[in-house]
Amino acid sequence: MGRDKITVIGAGNVGGTAAQRLAEKDCYDVVLLDIIPGLPKGKALDLAQSAAICGYTGQLTGTTDYKDTADSSVVVITSGIPRKPGMSRDELLETNVKIVKSVVEQVVEHSPNAILVIVSNPLDAMTYVAHKVSGFPKERVLGMAGVLDSARFRASIAKELAVSVQEVHTMVLGGHGDSMVPLIGSTTVAGAPIRDLVSEERLNELVDGTRHGGAEIVKLLEKGSAFYAPSAAAVQMVEAIMKDRHSILPCATLCKGEYGIQDVFVGVPVKLGRRGAEQIVEIALTSDEQAALAKSTADVKELCHQIDGMLT
Ligand code: APR
Repeated sequence: MGRDKITVIGAGNVGGTAAQRLAEKDCYDVVLLDIIPGLPKGKALDLAQSAAICGYTGQLTGTTDYKDTADSSVVVITSGIPRKPGMSRDELLETNVKIVKSVVEQVVEHSPNAILVIVSNPLDAMTYVAHKVSGFPKERVLGMAGVLDSARFRASIAKELAVSVQEVHTMVLGGHGDSMVPLIGSTTVAGAPIRDLVSEERLNELVDGTRHGGAEIVKLLEKGSAFYAPSAAAVQMVEAIMKDRHSILPCATLCKGEYGIQDVFVGVPVKLGRRGAEQIVEIALTSDEQAALAKSTADVKELCHQIDGMLT
C-alpha cells in the first residue's frame, strides 16, 4: 500500500507553504493544483529538488488536472483571492464562493471519500459552501481558523509575559472575523488563570490585537496576506486527522445544537481523527463568552444567507 495522498488546491502562498510543510512530514504524497499552470508545476519541482537536502521521500506533483488528485485522503482548499489592504474578509465573498464551488465540485468527483479542510476566506462561509456543494457528511468538511486565531492569541500572551508559547493554553472560537471569541475564562499560563497574570485592560488590548492579527499582516506585507501561520494551522489539522490523534482543536464545523448553535458552520472545539470531525467538545463558557459566540454565529449565519442566493 502506498502513502496517503494529500492534495492542496491553490498553489499560492498558503497552498505552496502547506505543500512544503506536508512534504517535510515525510508521510504523504502531495499534490499541488492551481488554475495557473506553471505555478503548481514550478513549486512541486522546486519542492522535489529540495528532497535530496531535506530528506523526504514522498511524491510531489504539480498539476492543473484534477485526475492527479484522485483518491486523496485529505484535500486542503486554499484557492481564492486574498484580501487586499483595507478590504474586509466579507468583501471577498462573491468571488471566492464561485471559486470554492467549482473547486469542490471537481474535488468530489475524483476523491469522493476525502476529508475537506477549507482555508479560503471568508472562512466559515466557504466551509458552508464546501459542505453544501460536496454533499459530504458534516464530519468530512472542516474549516481552518480557530487554530490560527488561537496561535495568534497564544503568541501575544507569550510575548507579554516573556514565557514560552508552549506554556500558554487557550482557544478562540466563533467565526473567523472581528467577532471571534477568545475564551479568556479558560486561558491559562502553566495552569494559572490569565486574569491573575495580566490586567483586564491589557488583556482587552491583546484580544484586540488577535482580532486584527490578520489585517495587521496584510498591511505590513502590502501584497498578499499571512501564510506561514495559516499553512501551519492547516497542516496541524491534516496531521491530527491522518495520524488519528483525537486532538481537540478549534475548527469550523457544522453545529447541531452544540453550544446552542443550530445548523451553522462556526469555530468550536472539535475532536479530530481519521474519520474527520469525530465529536464537538462542549466546554463550559462564561455567560459573556456564550453571548459573544451567539453574536459571532449570527454574523456567520447572515453571510450564509447571502450565499444561498448566490448558489441557486
Ligand atoms: N482553482 C484553483 N486555484 C485557484 C482558483 C481555482 N478556481 N482560483 C484561484 N486559484 C489560485 C490562484 O491562482 C492562486 O495561486 O489560488 C491561489 C491563491 O493563492 P494566493 O493568491 O497566494 O493567496 P494565499 O495567500 O495563498 O491565500 C489563499 O487563504 O488565508 C486565505 O484569505 C486567504 O482566501 C485566501 C486563501
